Amino acid sequence: MRAAAFTGFGSPEHVSVEPFDDPDPEPDEAIVDVGACSINHHDLWILNGDLWIGEDDLPFVAGMDVAGTVTAVGADVHNVEPGDRVLLCPNETCGSCRYCREGPESHCKRFSLYHGGLAEQASVQADRLVHLPDDVDLVDAAALPVAYMTALRMLKQAEVGVGDLVFVPGATGGVGVAAIQLIDAIGARSIGTSTSKQKLDRLEDLGVDYTIESGDPDEIRSAVVEISRVDATLNHLGGPFSDVGLNVLRRGGRMVICGQTAGPTSELTLGDLFLNQKRVLGNTMGTQTDLEQLVDLIAAGDLDPVVNETYTLDQTSQAFADMNDRSVFGKLVVTP
Ligand SMILES: NC(=O)c1ccc[n+]([C@@H]2O[C@H](COP(=O)([O-])OP(=O)(O)OC[C@H]3O[C@@H](n4cnc5c(N)ncnc54)[C@H](OP(=O)(O)O)[C@@H]3O)[C@@H](O)[C@H]2O)c1
Ligand SMILES: [Zn+2]
Repeated sequence: MRAAAFTGFGSPEHVSVEPFDDPDPEPDEAIVDVGACSINHHDLWILNGDLWIGEDDLPFVAGMDVAGTVTAVGADVHNVEPGDRVLLCPNETCGSCRYCREGPESHCKRFSLYHGGLAEQASVQADRLVHLPDDVDLVDAAALPVAYMTALRMLKQAEVGVGDLVFVPGATGGVGVAAIQLIDAIGARSIGTSTSKQKLDRLEDLGVDYTIESGDPDEIRSAVVEISRVDATLNHLGGPFSDVGLNVLRRGGRMVICGQTAGPTSELTLGDLFLNQKRVLGNTMGTQTDLEQLVDLIAAGDLDPVVNETYTLDQTSQAFADMNDRSVFGKLVVTP
């Protein structure tokens, strides 16, 4: 089989398509003929050498969001069979720690993520596969796991309800667009930011209620407060946007942080946090049940994930270049 592998770090030119042995399933695994695999900023962190994957792991096949058709299963697998259309929940959990027992599973002490979907075939844990109804497209499904599942879990953590106003700094990428769509789907309202007028125009079509065209934290803080203080902030940017996201909350408001695209550390105005009884929460991914709920939303016609562009396996390097350039809106999906 062929796979798009990282052969070095630092730039998209280190992504190349190479031959690999066809995988055989372990007893608890299934082999999936990959129809679609989306890419995430997490994969770009790895390619840029910012995560824990090292030279010894090269060539490294990234790709967490796998949708496709089962072609073979191991001896102990009973939940799927060859021919089933499936979507992988990329969560890897130990199943035995206190956090696995008490839930949510994303709190698992040994939590990690599946990698390997940017390939013609993927060997995956069979019990992490979600069945796809016939009318759910593989490309749409592949958009869901990392971005939409995380955004949904953040909304749940922030206790966002009907009519609430939610601030999403950086609202035009995978997590950002997912957040805007899901906020709209539950009857809440949103404020989204971007440095690109073009991308904000596309956000308007998805039901965003207010947009702010800026990348400047101070300017964004004033613009949000001028609209209204918000019930919740969903923040994947971090860096200087953490204090902005905190400051614009109403008294008792909640900010959930899931990323650090704009920087790994932040100064927070502590008086604002405790005097105004605000809450700041961290979040990683979501649960397989969250993912099943998202598949149901697509099947019911209540969610149409935004895929900016699809790429062939040979164009995977270009997909990473486009994400790196911030020239895309929503999700990028490779169709191996
Ligand atoms: N904890 C978790 O479980 C989890 C799950 C998913 C994602 N994440 C994290 O969430 C972040 C977003 O992931 P994604 O896949 O949605 O990424 P993405 O698609 O690349 O996000 C693009 C968005 O981020 C903005 N942006 C990019 N670089 C920026 C910068 N340097 N400063 C300010 N804004 C910037 C873009 O703004 P413009 O429109 O202005 O270009 C755009 O709105 C990543 O840090 C990722 O690691 C974490
Ligand atoms: Zn565990």
